Amino acid sequence: MIDLPSAPSRPGKATLAALPTRGRRLRRTPALRALVRETRLDPSMLVMPMFIRSGDGVREPIGSLPGIERLSADQAIVDARRLADLGVGGVLLFGLPDAKDSIGSGAWADDGVVQDALRRLRAADLPLVLIADTCLCEYTDHGHCGPLAPDGSVANDAALERLAVTAVSQARAGADIVAPSAMMDGQIAAIRAALDAADLGSTSIMAYAAKTASAFYSPFRDAAGSAPAFGDRRGYQMDPANGREALRELRQDVAEGADLLLVKPGLPCLDHIVAARAAFDLPVAAYQVSGEFAMIAAAAERGWIDGRRVLTESVLSIQRAGADIVITYGAADLAAWIAEERVPLAGAGAIR
Ligand code: PBG
Repeated sequence: MIDLPSAPSRPGKATLAALPTRGRRLRRTPALRALVRETRLDPSMLVMPMFIRSGDGVREPIGSLPGIERLSADQAIVDARRLADLGVGGVLLFGLPDAKDSIGSGAWADDGVVQDALRRLRAADLPLVLIADTCLCEYTDHGHCGPLAPDGSVANDAALERLAVTAVSQARAGADIVAPSAMMDGQIAAIRAALDAADLGSTSIMAYAAKTASAFYSPFRDAAGSAPAFGDRRGYQMDPANGREALRELRQDVAEGADLLLVKPGLPCLDHIVAARAAFDLPVAAYQVSGEFAMIAAAAERGWIDGRRVLTESVLSIQRAGADIVITYGAADLAAWIAEERVPLAGAGAIR
């Protein structure tokens, strides 16, 4: 369909001269729009989060995350194969242990849920990057991201030691990338040193560098049963009101040896993504978090918005802001839609 610009009411040279630039010229046809498009989604830049639990043959729906399930390791392999077939770049694993304790010891158990799933995924040899979320909040009975100090705050340096042990056990089990999300000071340096000392120098670190104490994580906390039993995370996660502080956090993680930078959440923190892209030359990832996905899914379910278009537009905005990698619960859907839209070319394949 050709959408011709409407004729000026009094056509003539004067009108054209007064409008030497006409943005609509390049928006006239789908082909022109495709030619000048600045941002293109590709499945290889998407990462799918996965919630791993114990058992066999288990798929448990998560009420606040439509379409997302808690999976036993065997089912995670089934989903991972489909993601790999769709060309999705990687998976990010979160663990839901059978039992929690005050220090979160399930996080670094060599037979823990994530470690077990990593070994099986590694053995399946899929073309997917395996990323492990490195945090303790899914494993502690109080839901905070590290062991507690006597005053009830999270003990930073005790947490560092546990996060480092956790990262080493995840790397040994087969993680290509460990992704510390606890927002403890010094976590990147501590993990880098521990990985190197354990002869795991080629495991990368994706630093959740700028992560705000956001209200957008609620569905995730439902999924993981990791809502803090008391208090909140404002003593370690960043104040959502701050922008310059995000840059300080990012700079610190670069100095400590991060290989990739992660900004989280996505749409509420587009400015952090722009800042990260401008200031550093490391790959920048952004996490479209559970609440962002749930809002889109819920409104789409009611027929208030077109879920497919809104999800696509949101992820495109995150990419346009400067993210090279987007972690999203919509990774599988987006990849399937991208494949659907790809039209096979007559005459393609002439060059072999
Ligand atoms: C663990 C962690 C959280 C998320 C990612 N890693 C929860 C939190 O910080 O409370 C949230 C992801 C999401 O909402 O999708 N610390």
